[in-house]
Amino acid sequence: MSARRPLVAANWKMNGSIAANEQWLAEFRAGAKNLGSDAVVSAPYPYLAQLWVGLKGTPAEVGAQDLSEHRAGAYTGDVTGEMLVDVGCRWVIVGHSERRALHGESNERVAAKAARALDAGLRPIVCIGETLAEREAGRTHEVVRTQLAVVLAAVGAAALERGAIAYEPVWAIGTGRTATPAQAQEVHGAIRAQLAAADPGAARAVRVLYGGSVKPANAAELFAQLDIDGGLIGGASLIARDFLAICAAVPRPKG
Ligand code: 13P
Repeated sequence: MSARRPLVAANWKMNGSIAANEQWLAEFRAGAKNLGSDAVVSAPYPYLAQLWVGLKGTPAEVGAQDLSEHRAGAYTGDVTGEMLVDVGCRWVIVGHSERRALHGESNERVAAKAARALDAGLRPIVCIGETLAEREAGRTHEVVRTQLAVVLAAVGAAALERGAIAYEPVWAIGTGRTATPAQAQEVHGAIRAQLAAADPGAARAVRVLYGGSVKPANAAELFAQLDIDGGLIGGASLIARDFLAICAAVPRPKG
């Protein structure tokens, strides 16, 4: 079974401009010769083609932040997986907590999007994680287990070897309040065990990323945890130098 190569993915969320992205890309290209990890940069739709061109010659690949669960048709404002592939995308985030909370995406819809992404030839980064109220009510494991179970029922564990799972506790996103390495590892270990119950081989191969206020200063101790295989980075990824530093914070491959 192959070792898990660390993966660090940027999620720019709804930020960027042609000019700002060019600046970011120039800084990234200058420092990206020997990234310690695999890398993905997930930008808003209008900038995907710009990233496709701008990341050529670097080890990083282009990601989107969402896709439609439908194949084509009358879905104004939506974008298919095939369109993303067409503009150079290799990855797509699905089920981010902001989409779940602000766009009412259910576990079932997230699972349908993961299936559609795989079908279109994209690598999905499937986001799961509990809210603060759920954590304080002692429901973290139940919530995360259910979110993952619905995706596993739709696509199976082995399919996720092509993508990744991102554990992002909602209370740690954009708050500066990172999960401690031990808190994160506890949930990552449970995710790995759930994968193992479905498919032991897949459990060893699927990368489980941590997201939520990851910065250059805290990345190394998070990534050193046994079941943390990299990160999904919001705010810090907007600064190329910080994103590069986080990519460099990964340890050797695990698994
Ligand atoms: P921050 O790194 O800004 O907390 O965002 C995390 C996140 O939501 C990445 O998808």
